[in-house]
Amino acid sequence: MTDYPVDMSVTPEVSGHFDPATNTISYIVRDPNSNACAIVDSVMDIDYAAGRITYDHADNLIAEIENKGLQLEWIIETHVHADHLSAAPYIQQKLGGKIGVGEKIMVVQDTFGKVFNEGTEFQRDGSQFDALFKDGDTYQIGGMNCFAMYTPGHTPACMVHVMGNAAFVGDTLFMPDGGSARADFPGGDAGQLYDSIQKVLSLPDDMRLFMCHDYGPNGRDIQWETTVGEEKAHNIHVGGGKTRDEFIAFRTERDAQLDMPKLIIPSLQVNMRAGNIPKDKDGNTMLKVPVNGL
Ligand SMILES: [Fe+2]
Repeated sequence: MTDYPVDMSVTPEVSGHFDPATNTISYIVRDPNSNACAIVDSVMDIDYAAGRITYDHADNLIAEIENKGLQLEWIIETHVHADHLSAAPYIQQKLGGKIGVGEKIMVVQDTFGKVFNEGTEFQRDGSQFDALFKDGDTYQIGGMNCFAMYTPGHTPACMVHVMGNAAFVGDTLFMPDGGSARADFPGGDAGQLYDSIQKVLSLPDDMRLFMCHDYGPNGRDIQWETTVGEEKAHNIHVGGGKTRDEFIAFRTERDAQLDMPKLIIPSLQVNMRAGNIPKDKDGNTMLKVPVNGL
């Protein structure tokens, strides 16, 4: 990819909010020439053992936006997360903005609609979201041009969002010493993930990359920002010219040893609904546990 539908001389103001419960980083991204902003990958707090939902993390994002007098235009999900719940509808109710995700959400909805035995009232057409992005789709935050890049592999609906000189990579990449995310969820594919990572690494070397997760490997402090050049040189899974076959072999072997994320069951049910908690036939918010279904 050599033609970019964004102006890479634009440097958005990016503020990262780390959630220690899920190791997720949520972002507020501000157009430097206006008060317009977007949120990328918000988090809703859950005490799963107690079935209790709270909003401290989302309230911090909301407070920052209100304190700075910003206008929220977009609430972006890089993908259907399996390790945390999105707070998109809660934030939208308070601040407005459009909730956007990749159009392949329909594939994810179809897969997990079956796993959770959802009835016909669960739409599998992405209609729970305000915008469905295709590869290369452009949109604006204030006057700043942004585009969505289709990057499947971790999940079938993953997108990287490029905003000025900043790219929000979701779970396509981790920090160089963290490598890459797993590719063994239903619809995941290690070869596709390698190809998607190459697509991200074809962006200019000085493009800033912002991670969705960091686990502080080897005891280092949590970090979430790097560059394309750093990833190309040092990423432990794909840097230094690792081949596609090497990556697939490594990723497949590693993924076979990983436990399921602690919050995968509530996360999928909520996130495939754009962050809305499902309801039972009487209208009570309710989550299911499919026994031996995953
Ligand atoms: Fe993920």
